[in-house]
Amino acid sequence: MSEPIGTIRSAHPPLAVLGGAPALAKPLPVGQLHFPAWSAYETAMRELFERQYYTNHGPLVQRFEAALRERLSVRHVVCVTNATIGLMMAVDALDLSGKVIVPAFTFIATVQAMSWAGLEPVFCDVDLRTHLMTPEFVEPLIDADVSAILPVNLWGDACPPAPLQTLADRHGLQLFFDSAHAFGCEIDARPVGNFGALEVFSFHATKVLSATEGGCICTNDDALAARLRNIRSSYGAGPLTAVPKTSNGRMSEAQAAIGLLNLERLGAVVERNREVKDRYHERLGQVTGLRLHLPRHATRTNFQYVIFEVDEDAFGLSRDELLEVLGSENIVARRYFYPGVHRSAPYRDELPRYIDRLPNTDHLGRRLIQLPSGAPVSAADVDRVCDCIELAHAHAGEVRDRLSGR
Ligand SMILES: Cc1ncc(COP(=O)(O)O)c(C=O)c1O
Repeated sequence: MSEPIGTIRSAHPPLAVLGGAPALAKPLPVGQLHFPAWSAYETAMRELFERQYYTNHGPLVQRFEAALRERLSVRHVVCVTNATIGLMMAVDALDLSGKVIVPAFTFIATVQAMSWAGLEPVFCDVDLRTHLMTPEFVEPLIDADVSAILPVNLWGDACPPAPLQTLADRHGLQLFFDSAHAFGCEIDARPVGNFGALEVFSFHATKVLSATEGGCICTNDDALAARLRNIRSSYGAGPLTAVPKTSNGRMSEAQAAIGLLNLERLGAVVERNREVKDRYHERLGQVTGLRLHLPRHATRTNFQYVIFEVDEDAFGLSRDELLEVLGSENIVARRYFYPGVHRSAPYRDELPRYIDRLPNTDHLGRRLIQLPSGAPVSAADVDRVCDCIELAHAHAGEVRDRLSGR
């Protein structure tokens, strides 16, 4: 692993909450940023300037789409401005109406995209171990107004698609995936991107493959791809297909330039992610009351997220207390996803019936913590984070007293 960006000031007790100096001199972010080399970026931008072509399905976007098609072994890739608009476009392309079953344990954009597209969310609980939607949670929620199921593939894992597809087919529903977290993952040697009617990836700055902002929609259905391309741009691209509405979901050439550079480095990024995650596992795997989330279904993962579950009784501190401890050390950890979307505005007010109906979502929302990972995080940084967590566990009683007296 490369050398630290976060500068280490002190490796030893006491913890900052107990009167010591913060372990890191400046904040260590949780965001998993990966940047290409400046020289490669400069070359790409020079070409773009020489070509004098900013957007409208330019040569770089076309090259990016071709590279993604090859990488994912999928027939069609439609690059878009971001995953949120990709999910909104998917609703029109699939001709959905009424309600969509979606987990409340997701980033709110999944559900907001459905609201923008005029669908009502039906919130579904998730499995406690995998944090993913399963057919057992979905089936009781199906009624005549439901037109689709939208599972979310989280933390470099993916829902087994076959049982969900069987359920969707049995009820005449569309199945499409929010795979914002799952680029580069596979299930039984088949890349994520090939399942359901379509899948949407995000290329946001913090994703394993970044195009600064961006995303893409993948499908093996030719007619659906034609609709998506026509919905994506009011200027049109390729043969015209009748669609109810058009939009501006175009990806710019500058986005595609970064996306292409980062796609070339994806293997190295995933390898580095693996090293970071392995180190956390090695250091904290045996700490009582902590459990690292590991993919259960993906046979290949991107190792992008480091998510631990904190069992307050066994660890000695709650997740929120641990967050405070780490914050005092300049370690920026995060609650992820908290609160569940069903408890977030506007849904908690507009759809109050879901409050207290999703026990696993609430349970995970109280207990999960995301720790720093990505290119700015060195092996030494990981060790510093782990030192602080071990100390917090060892001195839990004292830490709790100090925090409650604050
Ligand atoms: C699960 C999930 N879905 C959707 C999105 C939205 O992606 P974008 O920021 O590209 O619109 C995100 C973004 O972080 C996400 O985490």
